[in-house]
Amino acid sequence: MRVIQVGIGGMGNAWLSAVQRSPQVEFAGFVEIDADIARAQAQAYSLDKSRIFDSLPTALQQVRADAVINVTPPQFHREVTVMALEAGLPVLQEKPLAGTLDEARAIAAAADDTGVLCSVAQNYRYRPLTQTLKRVLESGELGAVGAVSAEFYKGPHFGGFREEMAHPLIVDMSIHHFDMMRFFLEADAQTIQARSWNPPWSWFAGDASASAQIGFANGVQAAYTGSWCSQALETSWNANWRFECERGVLLARDDRVTVQRLLRVGAEGRGLVNEHAEPKEIALIEMEREGQDYLLQEFYEAVTQGKETATSAQDNIHTMELVFGVVRACDSGRPVSLG
Ligand SMILES: NC(=O)c1ccc[n+]([C@@H]2O[C@H](COP(=O)([O-])OP(=O)(O)OC[C@H]3O[C@@H](n4cnc5c(N)ncnc54)[C@H](O)[C@@H]3O)[C@@H](O)[C@H]2O)c1
Repeated sequence: MRVIQVGIGGMGNAWLSAVQRSPQVEFAGFVEIDADIARAQAQAYSLDKSRIFDSLPTALQQVRADAVINVTPPQFHREVTVMALEAGLPVLQEKPLAGTLDEARAIAAAADDTGVLCSVAQNYRYRPLTQTLKRVLESGELGAVGAVSAEFYKGPHFGGFREEMAHPLIVDMSIHHFDMMRFFLEADAQTIQARSWNPPWSWFAGDASASAQIGFANGVQAAYTGSWCSQALETSWNANWRFECERGVLLARDDRVTVQRLLRVGAEGRGLVNEHAEPKEIALIEMEREGQDYLLQEFYEAVTQGKETATSAQDNIHTMELVFGVVRACDSGRPVSLG
Protein backbone atom coordinates (compact mmCIF):
# COMPACT_ATOMS: atom_id res chain seq x y z
CA MET A 1 0.00 0.00 0.00
CA ARG A 2 1.42 3.38 -1.04
CA VAL A 3 0.63 6.36 1.22
CA ILE A 4 1.03 10.12 1.14
CA GLN A 5 1.82 11.52 4.58
CA VAL A 6 0.55 15.08 5.06
CA GLY A 7 2.48 16.87 7.83
CA ILE A 8 5.89 15.40 8.58
CA GLY A 9 6.97 17.49 11.59
CA GLY A 10 5.99 16.91 15.25
CA MET A 11 3.81 13.80 15.52
CA GLY A 12 4.70 13.16 11.87
CA ASN A 13 7.88 11.58 13.25
CA ALA A 14 5.91 8.71 14.80
CA TRP A 15 4.18 8.00 11.46
CA LEU A 16 7.34 8.31 9.37
CA SER A 17 8.90 5.68 11.65
CA ALA A 18 5.81 3.44 11.67
CA VAL A 19 5.59 3.38 7.87
CA GLN A 20 9.33 2.76 7.55
CA ARG A 21 8.96 -0.20 9.98
CA SER A 22 5.98 -1.67 8.12
CA PRO A 23 6.67 -4.43 5.60
CA GLN A 24 3.32 -3.74 3.89
CA VAL A 25 3.20 0.05 3.61
CA GLU A 26 5.51 2.37 1.68
CA PHE A 27 5.62 6.07 0.94
CA ALA A 28 4.27 7.43 -2.34
CA GLY A 29 5.02 10.98 -1.23
CA PHE A 30 4.79 13.64 1.46
CA VAL A 31 3.15 17.04 1.93
CA GLU A 32 4.78 19.62 4.20
CA ILE A 33 4.17 23.38 4.14
CA ASP A 34 7.28 24.29 6.13
CA ALA A 35 10.33 24.08 3.87
CA ASP A 36 12.78 23.90 6.80
CA ILE A 37 10.92 20.95 8.32
CA ALA A 38 10.76 19.27 4.89
CA ARG A 39 14.54 19.64 4.49
CA ALA A 40 15.37 18.45 7.99
CA GLN A 41 13.05 15.44 7.82
CA ALA A 42 14.27 14.43 4.36
CA GLN A 43 17.76 14.27 5.87
CA ALA A 44 16.72 12.56 9.13
CA TYR A 45 14.61 9.83 7.47
CA SER A 46 16.41 9.57 4.10
CA LEU A 47 13.24 10.67 2.26
CA ASP A 48 13.20 11.24 -1.51
CA LYS A 49 13.12 15.08 -1.63
CA SER A 50 11.51 15.06 -5.08
CA ARG A 51 8.42 13.47 -3.50
CA ILE A 52 7.90 16.16 -0.84
CA PHE A 53 5.21 18.58 -2.05
CA ASP A 54 3.81 21.76 -0.55
CA SER A 55 0.14 20.91 -1.10
CA LEU A 56 -2.03 17.81 -1.29
CA PRO A 57 -3.50 18.68 -4.73
CA THR A 58 0.06 18.81 -6.15
CA ALA A 59 0.98 15.52 -4.50
CA LEU A 60 -2.20 13.88 -5.86
CA GLN A 61 -1.26 15.04 -9.38
CA GLN A 62 2.35 13.93 -9.16
CA VAL A 63 2.30 10.52 -7.46
CA ARG A 64 0.06 7.46 -7.46
CA ALA A 65 -1.13 6.64 -3.95
CA ASP A 66 -3.58 4.25 -2.29
CA ALA A 67 -4.15 6.20 0.93
CA VAL A 68 -3.34 9.32 2.96
CA ILE A 69 -2.04 9.72 6.52
CA ASN A 70 -3.07 13.13 7.87
CA VAL A 71 -0.80 14.41 10.65
CA THR A 72 -1.52 18.13 10.33
CA PRO A 73 -2.74 20.29 13.26
CA PRO A 74 -6.50 20.00 13.94
CA GLN A 75 -7.54 23.14 12.02
CA PHE A 76 -6.34 21.51 8.77
CA HIS A 77 -7.92 18.07 9.32
CA ARG A 78 -11.16 18.77 7.50
CA GLU A 79 -9.58 20.35 4.42
CA VAL A 80 -6.97 17.61 3.96
CA THR A 81 -9.14 14.63 4.86
CA VAL A 82 -12.22 15.63 2.84
CA MET A 83 -10.01 16.34 -0.20
CA ALA A 84 -8.45 12.87 0.07
CA LEU A 85 -11.81 11.13 0.60
CA GLU A 86 -13.28 12.93 -2.42
CA ALA A 87 -10.28 11.78 -4.45
CA GLY A 88 -11.23 8.23 -3.42
CA LEU A 89 -8.28 7.76 -1.03
CA PRO A 90 -8.86 6.25 2.43
CA VAL A 91 -7.46 8.38 5.27
CA LEU A 92 -5.77 7.48 8.53
CA GLN A 93 -5.76 10.68 10.45
CA GLU A 94 -4.58 11.99 13.76
CA LYS A 95 -6.96 12.82 16.55
CA PRO A 96 -8.91 14.98 17.16
CA LEU A 97 -11.07 14.10 14.15
CA ALA A 98 -11.23 17.88 13.58
CA GLY A 99 -10.72 21.18 15.34
CA THR A 100 -14.47 21.71 15.89
CA LEU A 101 -17.48 19.41 16.21
CA ASP A 102 -19.03 20.84 13.02
CA GLU A 103 -15.86 20.10 11.07
CA ALA A 104 -15.74 16.59 12.55
CA ARG A 105 -19.33 16.03 11.43
CA ALA A 106 -18.38 17.25 7.94
CA ILE A 107 -15.59 14.64 7.79
CA ALA A 108 -17.89 11.84 8.98
CA ALA A 109 -20.48 12.96 6.38
CA ALA A 110 -17.80 12.94 3.65
CA ALA A 111 -16.82 9.39 4.69
CA ASP A 112 -20.49 8.39 4.47
CA ASP A 113 -21.11 10.15 1.14
CA THR A 114 -18.00 8.85 -0.58
CA GLY A 115 -18.09 5.42 1.08
CA VAL A 116 -14.32 5.83 1.60
CA LEU A 117 -12.74 4.91 4.94
CA CYS A 118 -11.57 7.57 7.38
CA SER A 119 -9.96 6.04 10.48
CA VAL A 120 -8.88 8.08 13.50
CA ALA A 121 -5.63 7.46 15.39
CA GLN A 122 -6.87 6.85 18.92
CA ASN A 123 -3.55 5.21 19.71
CA TYR A 124 -4.05 5.15 23.49
CA ARG A 125 -6.50 2.26 22.99
CA TYR A 126 -3.67 0.18 21.62
CA ARG A 127 -1.27 0.32 24.51
CA PRO A 128 -0.49 -2.54 26.91
CA LEU A 129 -2.00 -0.68 29.89
CA THR A 130 -5.32 -0.03 28.13
CA GLN A 131 -5.51 -3.54 26.71
CA THR A 132 -4.72 -5.06 30.13
CA LEU A 133 -7.45 -3.06 31.88
CA LYS A 134 -9.90 -3.96 29.12
CA ARG A 135 -9.06 -7.65 29.43
CA VAL A 136 -9.70 -7.65 33.21
CA LEU A 137 -13.03 -5.84 32.73
CA GLU A 138 -14.06 -8.24 29.95
CA SER A 139 -13.13 -11.32 31.97
CA GLY A 140 -16.11 -10.59 34.24
CA GLU A 141 -14.12 -11.53 37.38
CA LEU A 142 -15.02 -8.23 39.05
CA GLY A 143 -18.66 -8.14 37.89
CA ALA A 144 -20.35 -5.00 36.67
CA VAL A 145 -18.58 -1.62 36.66
CA GLY A 146 -20.44 1.00 38.73
CA ALA A 147 -18.08 3.94 38.52
CA VAL A 148 -14.75 4.91 37.06
CA SER A 149 -12.36 7.71 37.88
CA ALA A 150 -9.33 8.92 35.98
CA GLU A 151 -6.65 11.41 37.02
CA PHE A 152 -4.13 12.97 34.68
CA TYR A 153 -1.34 15.42 35.61
CA LYS A 154 1.49 16.53 33.33
CA GLY A 155 3.38 19.77 32.71
CA PRO A 156 4.59 19.70 29.08
CA HIS A 157 5.94 22.85 27.39
CA PHE A 158 5.04 22.15 23.75
CA GLY A 159 4.92 25.62 22.26
CA GLY A 160 2.92 25.71 19.01
CA PHE A 161 -0.82 25.45 18.48
CA ARG A 162 -1.68 23.88 21.85
CA GLU A 163 -0.59 26.96 23.77
CA GLU A 164 -3.08 29.09 21.80
CA MET A 165 -6.14 26.79 22.02
CA ALA A 166 -9.13 27.73 24.24
CA HIS A 167 -9.25 24.20 25.74
CA PRO A 168 -5.86 22.59 25.11
CA LEU A 169 -6.18 19.93 27.82
CA ILE A 170 -9.69 18.77 26.95
CA VAL A 171 -9.46 18.88 23.14
CA ASP A 172 -5.88 17.78 22.59
CA MET A 173 -5.19 15.42 25.52
CA SER A 174 -8.23 14.39 27.56
CA ILE A 175 -9.72 13.24 24.24
CA HIS A 176 -7.52 10.14 24.66
CA HIS A 177 -8.84 9.46 28.17
CA PHE A 178 -12.46 10.11 27.15
CA ASP A 179 -12.04 7.78 24.18
CA MET A 180 -10.54 5.18 26.56
CA MET A 181 -13.68 5.52 28.73
CA ARG A 182 -15.85 4.71 25.69
CA PHE A 183 -13.60 1.76 24.90
CA PHE A 184 -13.65 0.39 28.49
CA LEU A 185 -17.36 0.92 29.08
CA GLU A 186 -18.60 0.15 25.55
CA ALA A 187 -21.08 2.98 25.92
CA ASP A 188 -21.46 6.60 24.94
CA ALA A 189 -21.73 9.61 27.22
CA GLN A 190 -25.19 11.00 27.99
CA THR A 191 -24.79 13.68 30.66
CA ILE A 192 -21.89 15.99 31.47
CA GLN A 193 -21.06 18.48 34.19
CA ALA A 194 -17.66 20.10 33.96
CA ARG A 195 -15.44 23.03 34.94
CA SER A 196 -12.19 24.20 33.42
CA TRP A 197 -9.72 26.80 34.66
CA ASN A 198 -6.21 28.04 34.09
CA PRO A 199 -3.88 28.02 37.11
CA PRO A 200 -2.07 31.34 37.72
CA TRP A 201 1.32 29.93 36.65
CA SER A 202 -0.04 28.34 33.44
CA TRP A 203 1.93 28.92 30.22
CA PHE A 204 -1.19 28.05 28.14
CA ALA A 205 -3.48 30.83 26.86
CA GLY A 206 -6.56 28.60 27.29
CA ASP A 207 -7.68 26.47 30.23
CA ALA A 208 -5.02 23.89 31.09
CA SER A 209 -6.97 22.23 33.93
CA ALA A 210 -10.42 20.64 34.00
CA SER A 211 -12.70 18.38 35.96
CA ALA A 212 -15.73 16.54 34.57
CA GLN A 213 -18.49 14.23 35.78
CA ILE A 214 -19.78 12.10 32.91
CA GLY A 215 -22.81 9.81 32.94
CA PHE A 216 -22.66 6.99 30.39
CA ALA A 217 -25.67 5.41 28.69
CA ASN A 218 -25.17 2.13 30.59
CA GLY A 219 -25.50 3.93 33.94
CA VAL A 220 -21.78 4.09 34.76
CA GLN A 221 -20.57 7.39 36.24
CA ALA A 222 -17.12 8.66 35.39
CA ALA A 223 -15.15 11.31 37.26
CA TYR A 224 -12.23 12.94 35.46
CA THR A 225 -9.66 15.45 36.67
CA GLY A 226 -6.67 16.63 34.73
CA SER A 227 -4.06 19.31 34.27
CA TRP A 228 -1.45 20.11 31.67
CA CYS A 229 0.40 22.56 33.89
CA SER A 230 1.18 20.34 36.86
CA GLN A 231 4.56 21.20 38.36
CA ALA A 232 5.44 17.89 40.06
CA LEU A 233 4.45 14.28 40.83
CA GLU A 234 3.17 13.78 37.30
CA THR A 235 1.02 10.80 36.33
CA SER A 236 1.65 8.61 33.31
CA TRP A 237 0.32 9.86 29.94
CA ASN A 238 -2.21 7.03 30.19
CA ALA A 239 -3.62 8.59 33.44
CA ASN A 240 -4.34 6.79 36.71
CA TRP A 241 -7.58 4.82 36.76
CA ARG A 242 -9.90 3.28 39.35
CA PHE A 243 -12.85 1.06 38.42
CA GLU A 244 -15.35 0.46 41.23
CA CYS A 245 -16.89 -2.91 40.43
CA GLU A 246 -19.52 -5.20 41.89
CA ARG A 247 -16.97 -7.70 43.23
CA GLY A 248 -13.81 -5.64 43.66
CA VAL A 249 -11.65 -2.81 42.41
CA LEU A 250 -9.38 -2.48 39.38
CA LEU A 251 -6.64 0.12 39.68
CA ALA A 252 -3.97 1.56 37.37
CA ARG A 253 -1.29 3.68 39.03
CA ASP A 254 1.82 4.78 37.15
CA ASP A 255 1.06 2.17 34.48
CA ARG A 256 0.88 -0.69 37.02
CA VAL A 257 -2.37 -2.61 37.27
CA THR A 258 -3.72 -4.00 40.56
CA VAL A 259 -6.89 -5.94 41.28
CA GLN A 260 -8.46 -6.60 44.65
CA ARG A 261 -11.47 -8.90 44.84
CA LEU A 262 -14.19 -8.89 47.48
CA LEU A 263 -14.37 -12.41 48.96
CA ARG A 264 -17.17 -12.14 51.48
CA VAL A 265 -19.35 -9.45 53.01
CA GLY A 266 -18.67 -9.21 56.77
CA ALA A 267 -20.53 -10.60 59.75
CA GLU A 268 -24.34 -10.64 59.59
CA GLY A 269 -24.16 -9.16 56.15
CA ARG A 270 -23.48 -5.68 57.49
CA GLY A 271 -20.24 -5.47 55.62
CA LEU A 272 -18.25 -3.67 58.34
CA VAL A 273 -15.31 -6.03 58.02
CA ASN A 274 -15.52 -7.36 54.48
CA GLU A 275 -13.02 -10.02 53.49
CA HIS A 276 -10.84 -9.32 50.50
CA ALA A 277 -8.33 -11.32 48.54
CA GLU A 278 -4.78 -9.96 48.69
CA PRO A 279 -4.29 -7.15 46.13
CA LYS A 280 -2.82 -8.76 43.02
CA GLU A 281 -0.60 -6.97 40.50
CA ILE A 282 -1.46 -7.95 36.94
CA ALA A 283 1.39 -8.11 34.42
CA LEU A 284 0.78 -5.91 31.38
CA ILE A 285 -0.06 -7.96 28.32
CA GLU A 286 2.45 -8.06 25.50
CA MET A 287 1.22 -6.79 22.18
CA GLU A 288 2.56 -7.81 18.79
CA ARG A 289 2.06 -4.21 17.64
CA GLU A 290 1.33 -1.12 19.74
CA GLY A 291 0.09 2.40 19.05
CA GLN A 292 0.87 3.65 15.53
CA ASP A 293 2.13 0.20 14.43
CA TYR A 294 -1.19 -1.37 15.45
CA LEU A 295 -3.24 1.39 13.80
CA LEU A 296 -1.24 1.27 10.57
CA GLN A 297 -1.64 -2.51 10.28
CA GLU A 298 -5.37 -2.25 11.07
CA PHE A 299 -5.70 0.49 8.40
CA TYR A 300 -3.72 -1.56 5.87
CA GLU A 301 -6.02 -4.58 6.43
CA ALA A 302 -9.09 -2.36 6.15
CA VAL A 303 -7.92 -0.80 2.87
CA THR A 304 -6.63 -3.97 1.24
CA GLN A 305 -8.97 -6.60 2.70
CA GLY A 306 -12.10 -4.60 3.55
CA LYS A 307 -11.86 -5.28 7.31
CA GLU A 308 -13.46 -2.85 9.77
CA THR A 309 -11.46 -0.38 11.86
CA ALA A 310 -12.64 0.20 15.44
CA THR A 311 -12.14 3.96 15.29
CA SER A 312 -13.76 5.05 12.04
CA ALA A 313 -14.83 8.70 11.74
CA GLN A 314 -18.44 7.53 12.10
CA ASP A 315 -17.64 5.92 15.47
CA ASN A 316 -15.19 8.60 16.56
CA ILE A 317 -17.84 11.28 16.24
CA HIS A 318 -19.12 9.99 19.62
CA THR A 319 -15.72 10.69 21.19
CA MET A 320 -15.86 14.17 19.63
CA GLU A 321 -19.37 14.74 21.00
CA LEU A 322 -18.09 13.83 24.46
CA VAL A 323 -15.04 16.11 24.15
CA PHE A 324 -17.04 19.07 22.87
CA GLY A 325 -19.85 18.32 25.34
CA VAL A 326 -17.27 18.80 28.12
CA VAL A 327 -16.13 22.05 26.46
CA ARG A 328 -19.75 23.24 26.26
CA ALA A 329 -20.37 22.37 29.92
CA CYS A 330 -17.22 24.30 30.92
CA ASP A 331 -18.06 27.35 28.79
CA SER A 332 -21.72 27.53 29.83
CA GLY A 333 -21.33 26.48 33.46
CA ARG A 334 -24.44 24.29 32.90
CA PRO A 335 -25.03 20.55 32.64
CA VAL A 336 -25.04 19.18 29.09
CA SER A 337 -27.11 16.29 27.73
CA LEU A 338 -25.98 14.42 24.65
CA GLY A 339 -28.03 12.45 22.16
N1 LIG B 1 -2.04 10.51 19.02
C1 LIG B 1 -1.10 11.12 19.72
O1 LIG B 1 -0.59 10.60 20.70
C2 LIG B 1 -0.67 12.51 19.28
C3 LIG B 1 0.44 13.12 19.85
C4 LIG B 1 0.80 14.38 19.37
C5 LIG B 1 0.06 15.01 18.38
N2 LIG B 1 -1.04 14.38 17.88
C6 LIG B 1 -1.87 15.03 16.86
O2 LIG B 1 -1.14 15.13 15.64
C7 LIG B 1 -1.57 16.29 14.93
C8 LIG B 1 -0.35 17.14 14.60
O3 LIG B 1 0.22 17.58 15.82
P1 LIG B 1 1.77 17.92 15.92
O4 LIG B 1 2.10 17.95 17.36
O5 LIG B 1 2.55 17.05 15.01
O6 LIG B 1 1.76 19.41 15.32
P2 LIG B 1 3.04 20.20 14.78
O7 LIG B 1 2.56 21.60 14.57
O8 LIG B 1 4.22 19.92 15.64
O9 LIG B 1 3.33 19.50 13.36
C9 LIG B 1 2.42 19.57 12.30
C10 LIG B 1 3.18 19.49 10.99
O10 LIG B 1 2.25 19.61 9.92
C11 LIG B 1 2.71 20.64 9.03
N3 LIG B 1 1.52 21.22 8.43
C12 LIG B 1 0.64 22.07 8.95
N4 LIG B 1 -0.38 22.30 8.11
C13 LIG B 1 -0.13 21.57 7.01
C14 LIG B 1 -0.83 21.37 5.80
N5 LIG B 1 -1.98 21.99 5.57
N6 LIG B 1 -0.29 20.53 4.90
C15 LIG B 1 0.88 19.91 5.15
N7 LIG B 1 1.57 20.05 6.30
C16 LIG B 1 1.08 20.87 7.22
C17 LIG B 1 3.47 21.60 9.91
O11 LIG B 1 4.37 22.38 9.14
C18 LIG B 1 4.20 20.63 10.83
O12 LIG B 1 5.36 20.10 10.24
C19 LIG B 1 -2.58 17.02 15.83
O13 LIG B 1 -3.88 16.70 15.43
C20 LIG B 1 -2.28 16.45 17.21
O14 LIG B 1 -3.40 16.46 18.08
C21 LIG B 1 -1.40 13.15 18.30
